[in-house]
Amino acid sequence: MFEILKINSQRPEKCFIQKAVKIIKKGGLVAFPTETVYGLGANALDKNAVRKIFKVKGRPLDNPIIVHIAKIEDLNLLARNIPKDVKILVQKFWPGPLTFVLFKKNAVPDEVTAGLKVVAIRMPKNKIALEMIKKAGFPIAAPSANLAGRPSPTFARHVFEDFGSKIDLILDGGRTKIGVESTVVDLTVKPFQILRPGGISFEELKKVLPDLRLHPSLLDGTFKGKSKSPGMKYRHYAPKASLILVNPIRDSKKWDKVQKGRISNGVEGKEQVLRIQNLIKKYQKQNKKVGVLSSFETKRFYQQADLVLISGSRKNLEQIAQNLFKILREFDKQKVDIILAEGVPEKGIGFAIMHRLKKASQG
Ligand code: TXA
Ligand code: MG
Repeated sequence: MFEILKINSQRPEKCFIQKAVKIIKKGGLVAFPTETVYGLGANALDKNAVRKIFKVKGRPLDNPIIVHIAKIEDLNLLARNIPKDVKILVQKFWPGPLTFVLFKKNAVPDEVTAGLKVVAIRMPKNKIALEMIKKAGFPIAAPSANLAGRPSPTFARHVFEDFGSKIDLILDGGRTKIGVESTVVDLTVKPFQILRPGGISFEELKKVLPDLRLHPSLLDGTFKGKSKSPGMKYRHYAPKASLILVNPIRDSKKWDKVQKGRISNGVEGKEQVLRIQNLIKKYQKQNKKVGVLSSFETKRFYQQADLVLISGSRKNLEQIAQNLFKILREFDKQKVDIILAEGVPEKGIGFAIMHRLKKASQG
């Protein structure tokens, strides 16, 4: 029988963890919080359980799933030919929002990797997730706990919105901290490549891996090229409304001007606001209900819009990342037809934010 259990994120109740583990051992599905987004977990070594994940999400069968571990030693259980750089990456970033793609061992079912010879592995930084994996005694395969194509869940209620009682259990550990998914790095090529930007920034990784590259599909900014992370070719993170991403500000100096409230002088900031104002008029004339995904600083410029939701302060990209998916879902609840979204600078976690917004705007 389906259940949602509120669980303490600092000291997870043992009885709730046990309940989750019991379900997972029987081949069931448990949604649980990680530091990035909620995951939909199953025993990674049980192919039938993994098949259930694809079915309930409506996930295309060629999109592989990340395996979550709680002990570094488990890397050797799942992967082979592990490059030596993994040691320092693990020391610096695990547990945390960084996923490695490595050559897989036979123990990993083909269902998990969608037939690929490589497997994606990460250690989440969340006590509930770590306790559950440890108590289970086997790794847990978990994609984000949303219907395929929908924005990832950052609250337990988002998981319930998408699946209702079609899964066995939701562990409600409150909102997730980071709000965008992990960074996926392919360690099977030289130089290593980022396949998906995420919670650990390109800049941070470069400090440890100076040769690190972005996968070519990330370079042109459209993300439409052939991707090595098979999932990336699908429309993603998408609300039901059409999303139009407006005038991303690339130059961080100009962005700083906008921050200081001098929007009329910050040329690109002004352009962005003016374009959104024009688009509000244009779509309202077409009788569309128009929402704006705004920053705190620019909200006052969009009074004509039908709905303005604030993702956070322009001074705090982490805050914008944390709120992003929740707000995309909120626009759907309020049934807007068009979302006009302010772009952010593609630095730090801003790169992951822009990646999700661009993906959400496709299709
Ligand atoms: O933060 C996260 O990574 C969250 C939490 C739950 O851990 N998980 C997550 O999973 O975002 P999902 O399935 O929504 O996205 C996984 C991404 C997809 O783009 C997928 O194609 C890629 O990782 N991926 C998984 N296994 C892969 C593999 N073997 N080779 C290449 N890419 C892989
Ligand atoms: Mg996902």
